[in-house]
Amino acid sequence: MKPRPGKRTPRKTPPSSAPAKPWAGRFTQSADPAAERFTASLAFDRRLWPHDVTGSVAWAKALGRAGLLSASERDAIVTGLAAVREELASGTFPFRPELEDIHMNVERRLQELIGEAGGKLHTGRSRNDQIALDERLYLKDIIGRLREGLRRVQEVLVARAAETLEAPLPGYTHLQRAQPIVLAHHLLAYVFMLQRDRERFRDCRARADVLPLGAGALAGTAFPIDREALAKDLGFAAVSPNSLDAVSDRDYVVEFLAAGAICGMHLSRLAADLTLWATAEFGFVEFSDAFATGSSIMPQKKNPDVAELIRGKSGRLSGNLVAVLTTMKGLPLAYNADMQEDKEPFFDSVDTLEAICAVLPPMLASLTFHTDRMRRVAGENFATATDLADYLVRKGVPFRRAHEVVGRVVRYALDEGKGLEDLGLAELRRFSPLFDGDVKDALTVEASLRARAVTGGTAPAAVRRALAQARALTGQEQS
Ligand code: ARG
Repeated sequence: MKPRPGKRTPRKTPPSSAPAKPWAGRFTQSADPAAERFTASLAFDRRLWPHDVTGSVAWAKALGRAGLLSASERDAIVTGLAAVREELASGTFPFRPELEDIHMNVERRLQELIGEAGGKLHTGRSRNDQIALDERLYLKDIIGRLREGLRRVQEVLVARAAETLEAPLPGYTHLQRAQPIVLAHHLLAYVFMLQRDRERFRDCRARADVLPLGAGALAGTAFPIDREALAKDLGFAAVSPNSLDAVSDRDYVVEFLAAGAICGMHLSRLAADLTLWATAEFGFVEFSDAFATGSSIMPQKKNPDVAELIRGKSGRLSGNLVAVLTTMKGLPLAYNADMQEDKEPFFDSVDTLEAICAVLPPMLASLTFHTDRMRRVAGENFATATDLADYLVRKGVPFRRAHEVVGRVVRYALDEGKGLEDLGLAELRRFSPLFDGDVKDALTVEASLRARAVTGGTAPAAVRRALAQARALTGQEQS
C-alpha cells in the first residue's frame, strides 16, 4: 500500500555524523538533543556489553535453528559479533551516544561490519527481552564475584578469631558494659551474618536464573524459537512462562538490592564497632596507617576514614533498594521506560559492595587488637554480677530472688567505691548466708566465660567449636 502523503513536516535529517535511529521510518523529525541526552542510557548500560554480545550470539544461533537465518548468515553474524566483542574488549569500539543504549550500539556496529545480514539479528527480538536477558546474565556473573568477596572477608575474620579465642573483651548491651565475652566471639558474629548474606545472594541468583529472551516486546516472539535450547545455550535453569512477566519483572534487581542493603547494614555495623573501638575512650584497636587518614589541620589525628566510609556507604545501598522499589511500584504491565532507571542504583550497589570487599580484608588483617586493655576492662563495672546471681541459683535460690540480692550487693559496693572482687566474704554474707569461700572463683572473668559453654556461647571451648563451623563455611567451594 502506498503511504498517504498527508500533511507532513519536512524531514529534518540528522547531521551526517549521527547515524539514523532504527525507528527513523516512522518519524519525521529528528530527536531534540536534550531529549536524546535525557533518554540515553549508554553511559551506564555499556557495562552490559559482554552479556549483550553473548545474548546476541545465542539468539543468532536460535534464529538459525528456527530456519530464519541461513547457515552463512548465521556464521556472518556470529563472526561479526566476535569482532564487535574484540573491539569492545580492546577499547576500540566506536560508541555512539546518539544510538541511545548498548543494544543499538552493538547491533549497528555489527551491521557496519557485516552488512545486510546484520539487519536480521533483531528478528523476533525486542530490546525489552534483550535488556532483561543482559541484566540477568550480568547478575549471575556479579553474584559469583560478590560471594567470593564476602567469603574473603569471612576468611580474615576467622583468622583473627583464631588468634583471639581466649582474649576477654567487655560485651555490651545498650552500649553499657554487660558481661565478658571473648574477642573471637564478637568477630565470629560477623562471619555468621555474612554467611546469611552470601546465602541471600545465592538465592537471588537461583531465582534470577530464568531466561526472558523469546518474550519479545511483550507478547512472545512470533517465530518458532526453541526457547529451551536457547536457555541451555545461555546457561539458564528455566524458561520464563509468561512473556508479560518476563519483560516487566525487575524482581531480580530488587532482590539483589535488598540483599545488598542488608549486607551493607552488616558491614556498616562491623565498621561502626571498629570505629568506636579505635577511640581513645575505648582503646581496643588501632588501624594500620595504611587504612587510616590524617587531618589537614590537627597534626596528631589518625582518623578511621576507611571504616567510616564502609559505615557511610550503607546509606546508598539502602537508598538504591528504595529507589528501584519506588520506580517499579505502580508501573502498568508490561515494559515501561521507567524501568531503565533500575540500572544506576543496581550498578552502584554492585560497585559499592565490590569496593568494600576489596578494602575490608586487608584492613581487618592489619588491625591491631589491644587485648591487654580489653582484658583489663572486661571485668570492670560489675561485669560478673550475673555470675554472682547464678552462684546463688546453683545453691537453690530462685533467680528473681538472687537478682535482687546481687542488686543490693552492687548498690552497697557502689556506695563503698568497691568492685565485686574487692568485697570480702563477710561483707557478702551480710546479703546472703549462702555465699561461701568458693564465691571468689565464680566472680572472675575466666569463670564467667567458662560458664557459658552452651552451643553458641562465649566460653572459649564453645567458641572453638563455632570457629570450626565458621571455617567450614568459608571453604572455597562454598562460593
Ligand atoms: N535501555 C532500555 C532499558 O534499560 C532498554 C529497553 C528499551 N526498550 C524500549 N522499548 N525503550 O530498559
